[in-house]
Amino acid sequence: MTISLTKRLEQLDDLPSLPQSLHQVLSELETDGATASSLESIIGEDPMLTARILRVANSPVYGSAKKISSVARAVTVLGFDEVRNLVVALSLSGSFSCDLDTDTFNIRQLWLHLVATARVAQILAQQIPTLKPDEMFTAGLIHDLGRVLSCLYLQEEMQQIIETCRNEGLSMLASEQKLGLSHAEVGTFLATKWGFSDLLANVVRYHHAPAGAGNHEQAAALVFLADGIAKKLGMGWDLAGDNDKVLIPRCLGLSGEAVKAAAKCLHNEKEDLVTRWSQILFN
Ligand SMILES: [Fe+2]
Ligand SMILES: [Fe+2]
Repeated sequence: MTISLTKRLEQLDDLPSLPQSLHQVLSELETDGATASSLESIIGEDPMLTARILRVANSPVYGSAKKISSVARAVTVLGFDEVRNLVVALSLSGSFSCDLDTDTFNIRQLWLHLVATARVAQILAQQIPTLKPDEMFTAGLIHDLGRVLSCLYLQEEMQQIIETCRNEGLSMLASEQKLGLSHAEVGTFLATKWGFSDLLANVVRYHHAPAGAGNHEQAAALVFLADGIAKKLGMGWDLAGDNDKVLIPRCLGLSGEAVKAAAKCLHNEKEDLVTRWSQILFN
């Protein structure tokens, strides 16, 4: 990252802070000892998050016949995995505005890109014994946080990137590289500030260059692949369109058939995913 960009980020005194509850949920999940009740006691400390979860749990998204009045009940009705994914998504989206929705910065589409990447990363991880599908859902959800942050706090730089895309027919990534304004670096700044785990921080930093991620190469490579699939299925976020071939990193040991099956799964879920997560994140 250029010094000036680092300085710009450091000078922003209104950057969002990671909700304590999300920090605790992520740490708890890393221990492998997380249970419905441990999750409930953490979430219960955060009245705003509890209220958001209960609102979503009682919304038509889940169509529960009976009123869900506690987080424990939500875990019973919706399942542990669903509640965990909701906690992560609602905590993150609650830290940023999702309402910046102009022609230039379509931040809602960016959130849907994150959700699509998260979902296909979760599906693909089921084929890889060394990765945890749920952790990979979280990894997918945060991989482009640098772009979310840039849209909201570095609008001048984003404008420059977009102009370079338009004027030179480059992809967002190529424009960022040309200008030295990498969203992976911006995301890394946030991941460090927020104290993300090594795995998550490496995914944020290396999801476009997984070989640099050391011990976490597979996780970064999986998100790289999931990002490519999401884009290919029209769930990307790039002015230049998403015509790149989907590359399967060798370190994942995945067959072309397994990747096609995961892509098909996302394709089949796409409409439902967009409807459901739009209601969860933007209502
Ligand atoms: Fe990215
Ligand atoms: Fe992405």
